[in-house]
Amino acid sequence: MKTFDLSTYLKKQQDLINSALDKWLPKPHGPSGPVVEAMRYSLMSGGKRVRPILLLAGAQAVGSDQKALLPGACALECIHTYSLIHDDLPAMDDDDLRRGRPTCHKVYGEAVAILAGDGLLTYAFELICKPELTQNISPRLLGEAIFLLARAAGVSGMVGGQTADILMEGRPVDAETLSFIHSHKTGALIQTSVEIGALLGRGNDEELYHLKRYGDFLGLAFQIKDDLLDVEGDREILGKPVGSDDRNLKATYPALFGLKETRRRAQELLKQALSELELFDDSAEPLRAIARYVVERDR
Ligand code: IPE
Ligand code: IPE
Ligand code: MG
Ligand code: MG
Ligand code: MG
Repeated sequence: MKTFDLSTYLKKQQDLINSALDKWLPKPHGPSGPVVEAMRYSLMSGGKRVRPILLLAGAQAVGSDQKALLPGACALECIHTYSLIHDDLPAMDDDDLRRGRPTCHKVYGEAVAILAGDGLLTYAFELICKPELTQNISPRLLGEAIFLLARAAGVSGMVGGQTADILMEGRPVDAETLSFIHSHKTGALIQTSVEIGALLGRGNDEELYHLKRYGDFLGLAFQIKDDLLDVEGDREILGKPVGSDDRNLKATYPALFGLKETRRRAQELLKQALSELELFDDSAEPLRAIARYVVERDR
């Protein structure tokens, strides 16, 4: 492969995902229109699309055609966006800016924002197995992918991590609890994105084993970088507040270890993630570039 151009790649994948989301998401009409409007407001507002891109890149790494996996990729973005809408609610992080715009509850009110989150979570499962979109995927593999998605989103994954994140506010945490919080609230969906891509792309056991480990390291690195950006990022570039973690007395890597050690840990995780890709050829170049991007990004 010629030198890999990450920004061209990301733009192409983002465009692909954005147009699929726009096409497949319900259109607002009738008495339930406002909830669909709120779902679209949060979803179609310029997220980085890291999770769906990882799903497609996981499939590419095992040599698979990616187009058929777009419904699953979009499902991941729906679940992620739901988690952001709920994360920003007054009862949780109480933030007012997301993806460069007022948060969902600021525009639509808390009740509709909660329902928009519920709507996106449920729609994700409709989408990943919608019969007319998934005819070319084996039902057994699709069943397994749905299982992985549900597990990563729920109490064994993101919901479990978010619960610990909220309950540990203002309390002393040890390194083990902190890593539990981060690898569950954020790591689970990231890891599962890569895994579902590799699974539906029909990767073999060895490939799946390494890609899961890659996703594990990358998922933790992603949230550690998110913690760093909350301290040293720029609100305009990030499109979300900085200092939210301090205000909420969150358990974070910078709070527990300081900035320097936190940056070192992110670099260490990047190295570990990359080492899991050693057996892959150029087809894993996107995964390599995404890993570097995750710890070097400014948004
Ligand atoms: C932010 O996720 C919340 C975390 C899980 C750390 P992203 O940084 O992927 O946010 P978007 O999707 O680009 O807005
Ligand atoms: C949230 O972590 C992780 C989610 C599951 C949404 P944060 O609370 O740090 O995410 P941001 O910084 O608000 O995006
Ligand atoms: Mg939070
Ligand atoms: Mg938050
Ligand atoms: Mg954060």
